[in-house]
Amino acid sequence: MTDPLQRVPVDLGGRSYDILVGPNALGALGETLSPLLARPFAVIVTDENVAKCHLAKTKDALGAAGIACEAIILPAGEATKSFAQLEALTGQLLELGVERDDIVIALGGGVIGDLTGFAAATLRRGIRFVQVPTSLLAQVDSSVGGKTAINVPQGKNLIGAFHQPSLVIGDVSLLGTLVPRQLRAGYAEVVKYGVLGDLEFFEWLEENGAALLSQGQNVVPLMAYAVTHSCEAKAKIVAADEREGGMRALLNLGHTFGHALEAATGYSDRLFHGEGVAIGMGLALDLSARLGHCSADCGQRLRAHLKAVGLPATLGDIEGSPLGAAELLVHMRQDKKVAQGKLTLILNHSIGESFIEKDVPADVIFELLITSGATT
Ligand code: GLY
Repeated sequence: MTDPLQRVPVDLGGRSYDILVGPNALGALGETLSPLLARPFAVIVTDENVAKCHLAKTKDALGAAGIACEAIILPAGEATKSFAQLEALTGQLLELGVERDDIVIALGGGVIGDLTGFAAATLRRGIRFVQVPTSLLAQVDSSVGGKTAINVPQGKNLIGAFHQPSLVIGDVSLLGTLVPRQLRAGYAEVVKYGVLGDLEFFEWLEENGAALLSQGQNVVPLMAYAVTHSCEAKAKIVAADEREGGMRALLNLGHTFGHALEAATGYSDRLFHGEGVAIGMGLALDLSARLGHCSADCGQRLRAHLKAVGLPATLGDIEGSPLGAAELLVHMRQDKKVAQGKLTLILNHSIGESFIEKDVPADVIFELLITSGATT
């Protein structure tokens, strides 16, 4: 017997779509996709690593529904989110005869999803695409909500488009092949949904987080619950504010600090994105306490949970020499939420209640970073 799939609708009028979550959701790809196709043909875009683990199963799922497919396999890694790979990918899609009404399938983590989504947004002035996220981070965050982009030397995700997928397939059984550190980093984004808007979910994670990350078959139902719940939280925010005019910025909790930490560590294996978000959320809670918005216990409670699941929780948990507060502030000033030169941060009244704070004083952030272990 197969477990039933959870359906999470993303309500965006004419651009609405479903996220299907559950073990073996990938098996339902063909039958779910069929009614959306103009002809029984689709192109899968993936990377070398994901292709080894999941491409055959994806082709089988399409084949079982009578859908012919081609696959484009790109190099794995963040460097693939580039103009060069966008040019190569769009060229291959055109050579494969992809038409205006066809659908492209992004099979992979955030890099493949963001690049394929952006290629789909621009190919023939916009074709449809489907997300089949294979990392936890992509299943709970990047595959949902239609942000697509590539990186340029000036920064990450600076060239892109809002382009919603037509369907998202969140197959939690695919997460079993992830390396534990990568899974844990994705888990930080799950924790984010609890911290930003749902104390009860945070408490559930305190109870179940360590088991959730143990990657046995028996944790699949827990993972299905966590992914479904995260997608519901994100779908609600995206439906209310698709283009980030307001509350969608709440999804940025921990990211202003996190992005600065990633930049200061050279976007290297020293710190994964989710790890930066984990440390960043702790700093955001401490900053909230310093500014009198919440009690100091909030940051301590979050860090206790992050440590319990093996995530870095403080600046001191980043290997190598300490980072400089002044340099981190320079990176924070590059944040997309900076408006008229003022720093905007996502702060908290408590765990489970975030808000947007405009014009946060830089000197308070500087002092916080120093007391948290940064050098001057
Ligand atoms: N990852 C943040 C957003 O989708 O808005």
